[in-house]
Amino acid sequence: MSGSYDVQDGIAVATMDTPPVNSLGIGNRRFIADAICRAEADPAVKAIVLTGRGRAFCGGADIREFNKPEATMAPDLIDVIDLIERCEKPVVAAVHSIVMGGGLELAMGCHYRVVQRGTMVSLPEVRIGILPGASGTQRLPRLIGLEPALNMIVTGNTVMSEVLAAMPGQKLFDRIVDGEVLQAAIAFAKAHADARPLPRVRELKVTHPAPEAYLQFARNMVAAMSKNYPAPLRCLDCVAQSVRLPFDQALAYERAGVTELVWTPESAALRNAFFAERAASKIPDVPEDTPQRPIKTVGVIGAGTMGGGIAMNFLNAGIPVTMLEMKQEALDRGVATIKKNYEAQVKKGKLKQDKYEQRMALLSTTLDYAALKDCDLIIEAVFEELGVKEKVFTQLDEIAKQGAILASNTSTLDVDKIAAFTKRPQDVVGMHFFSPANVMKLLEVVRGKQTAKDVLATVMAVAKKIKKTAVVSGVCDGFIGNRMIEQYSRQAGFLLDEGATLQQVDKAIEKFGFAMGPFRMGDLAGNDIGWAIRKRRATERADMKYSRTADKLCELGRFGQKTGAGWYDYQAGKRDAIPSDLVNKMIEDHRKELGITPRKISDEEIVQRLVYALVNEGAHILEDGIASKSGDIDMVYLTGYGFPMHRGGPMHYASQVGLYNVAETMKRFAKNPRDDAAFWQPAPLIQKLVAEGRPFA
Ligand code: NAI
Repeated sequence: MSGSYDVQDGIAVATMDTPPVNSLGIGNRRFIADAICRAEADPAVKAIVLTGRGRAFCGGADIREFNKPEATMAPDLIDVIDLIERCEKPVVAAVHSIVMGGGLELAMGCHYRVVQRGTMVSLPEVRIGILPGASGTQRLPRLIGLEPALNMIVTGNTVMSEVLAAMPGQKLFDRIVDGEVLQAAIAFAKAHADARPLPRVRELKVTHPAPEAYLQFARNMVAAMSKNYPAPLRCLDCVAQSVRLPFDQALAYERAGVTELVWTPESAALRNAFFAERAASKIPDVPEDTPQRPIKTVGVIGAGTMGGGIAMNFLNAGIPVTMLEMKQEALDRGVATIKKNYEAQVKKGKLKQDKYEQRMALLSTTLDYAALKDCDLIIEAVFEELGVKEKVFTQLDEIAKQGAILASNTSTLDVDKIAAFTKRPQDVVGMHFFSPANVMKLLEVVRGKQTAKDVLATVMAVAKKIKKTAVVSGVCDGFIGNRMIEQYSRQAGFLLDEGATLQQVDKAIEKFGFAMGPFRMGDLAGNDIGWAIRKRRATERADMKYSRTADKLCELGRFGQKTGAGWYDYQAGKRDAIPSDLVNKMIEDHRKELGITPRKISDEEIVQRLVYALVNEGAHILEDGIASKSGDIDMVYLTGYGFPMHRGGPMHYASQVGLYNVAETMKRFAKNPRDDAAFWQPAPLIQKLVAEGRPFA
């Protein structure tokens, strides 16, 4: 039984009760259908109220049923909605908290809807590359009008119930109440028990003064906004049928749209991201009920590029931060940057002045470690040198309270070594933010050999609180993201050596969908960072082959946008990348030195070499246990490295191309004498999956 059914005073109340959000799995679909049939057959029942217990009226389809036989078991949602609408007794939906997707379609199938103020209303299907396929595209325009309905459906945006209820002429909500919705719905049902004919949404007409002109205008807008995705335009086509076709024909059209979209690679990619994001917060050997340490105050050491951004995350979440530096000037600079960032938001109208003041009031600064002694979490973001980290962690070990979590934002150093500077390695963890730390979604949580499970559970929960997508990585050089990007950058360098131009490489991968090509990205992040890392590694990994072009660029002092010149030239105050004759000549000279006759390289080869370099290293990362699942790697790339969302992440993309094809291409690259043959041997995991005919996930 998925809920409860009670009859009182002639009103049957059917309450879905499947936490967390009463999703419409087969259990609930059967429960609702049974309740309607039972009420209809019972002469004592005059009207029916349908509601959901707990945190939501109904959150829509049951995502756990995706690709499972249960999804296709009868009755399907369309049948359930049809049954409700055809019922001869009035059915009233008592809607509260959340009404999403199939949940809203269900409510729209009822004859009446009573809603609680503050309810979040949405049809978010487009966000996983499909469309509301249980009559949503036909019923919503009939209830709130063509334009508002189209907006909600093509964006998937949430609209509050009070906003919808206030729209002139809307028929979505028959009553809006402030408090308890169930009693109000029961009273409404009693008052309307004998009213006939019953209002049925299918019988309504969509009214609009010039529907076709509007739809043409909307089509242009939607097409421009959704270049890489077929779903928004398909949504529009379906909504358009609400003014063109009879209801049942339009439903068939809608149905065909869903079937088509489900099979598109874009929808598969979006669904992969959707599931991977949820799965990333689950760590295989850390149970969900692992106790967490309370995090009420945070310390941040270092007020530079990263420290300031890290502090802002916590201030935004209402958590007090104490920032520590070596010198007052550095503190002042750090605070000034934070203020500047907030003030820019205030100016743009994104942040209210009083909120800004509240946030700044949560920030204190200090030069004295003793001021951090009560902090629950202390994050270090000082210079990237092990010696400096040692000093910081030794002092933290002396002053931090028992049970405080000590985190490092290091991007390359060994977290186990850092933990060993303390007598409490179990409390040490990596929290690797990405720049700008107040903006970028990704947080790599680096799990040391001895990091305690409750520390991990706490940091994952903190990440959620500060709205980051946290992915757990084991300890290795570069963790997940930077270890992979190194292989990608190496390929970018080899491509230059062999004859590609900077612009060609950047453009090819940008056309694939990356936010920025490797050279523009290098200029933005600072080419000196990679240079320093390569110098440090020269002895550790002397066998690693690189193109020397990046070093030569840095030897010219061209570190990127910050020095006004990098791979490209930059005009003061602008970010446009302008091709540089000097750099192009440097690359040409470099080829001559190596005796390379440049060859023409196709865009396809560029994309394959860059992306498959990520894939092969990603596979090694999985084998080494640095990432626990391929979806984690995809999340790192989607949220931290600008990998195109519509491709679903490198590992998902490779699985879509087919690992056999990917492996064969890698073997071909291994034969290129200018490239790194050893690297291009497909990782054993890829070979194994090819043999088994399986994808990564
Ligand atoms: P930064 O040079 O901008 O800031 C470092 C700050 O730490 C400086 O203000 C310095 O005065 C302060 N500092 C140095 N030693 C200190 C000590 N003993 N006590 C207190 N403060 C001290 O450096 P950035 O870029 O913020 O990097 C910080 C850390 O974050 C590094 O470990 C870096 O690898 C990591 N990181 C940097 C990213 C970036 O894009 N910049 C991205 C992710 C991680």
